[in-house]
Amino acid sequence: MKNIVILISGGGSNMRALVEAAQREGWDKRWGARVSAVISNRADSAGLAWAQARGLTTAVLSHRDFASREAFDEALAALIDPHQPTLVLLAGFMRILTPGFVARYAGRLVNIHPSLLPAFTGLDTHRRAIEAGCAVAGATVHQVTAELDHGHILGQAVVPILPGDTPDALAARVLSQEHRLYPSVVARWLAGA
Ligand code: GAR
Repeated sequence: MKNIVILISGGGSNMRALVEAAQREGWDKRWGARVSAVISNRADSAGLAWAQARGLTTAVLSHRDFASREAFDEALAALIDPHQPTLVLLAGFMRILTPGFVARYAGRLVNIHPSLLPAFTGLDTHRRAIEAGCAVAGATVHQVTAELDHGHILGQAVVPILPGDTPDALAARVLSQEHRLYPSVVARWLAGA
């Protein structure tokens, strides 16, 4: 079985979209793939509660319990490695990862970012896209490299920025497309494309 480990921090709606697509599209039968664990760095994450209720294997690892990023990433890897994952998917995982962690999962560490990279790396992407006068915004699924929000682009989804858009309105429009984009990119990956 090809194991997929998903890392979250908050609402976990992208994780839910991935889990539901895996079930609906029969990733287990088509490609022998399953979501084998959901790991959150926050105990109060709504996504974690959803995954637990769904009977998925879950774990919490609070970054606050560690003195350094390196120590947190080491402990995180110790939770991930027993799954021998084909893919480690960052789905709203709001931690900057150390170069050592990124190297450990090189080629199988993937992130979704709420902008059309290479534009608007980092935080507050929707407000910045509106203020820059962009006509479109979107989301990017990309391989993770040591440089934040860089790495080979695996797929993008584009939405319009409408007159009078607020960051929240734009974020909701982008997020609904993220829920289509991320599962489709992962399915393509599993299919060997
Ligand atoms: C998503 O919009 C995701 O692209 C973004 O956080 C949100 C998480 O939502 N990720 C980042 O900003 C990463 N830097 P979710 O928890 O409902 O999936």
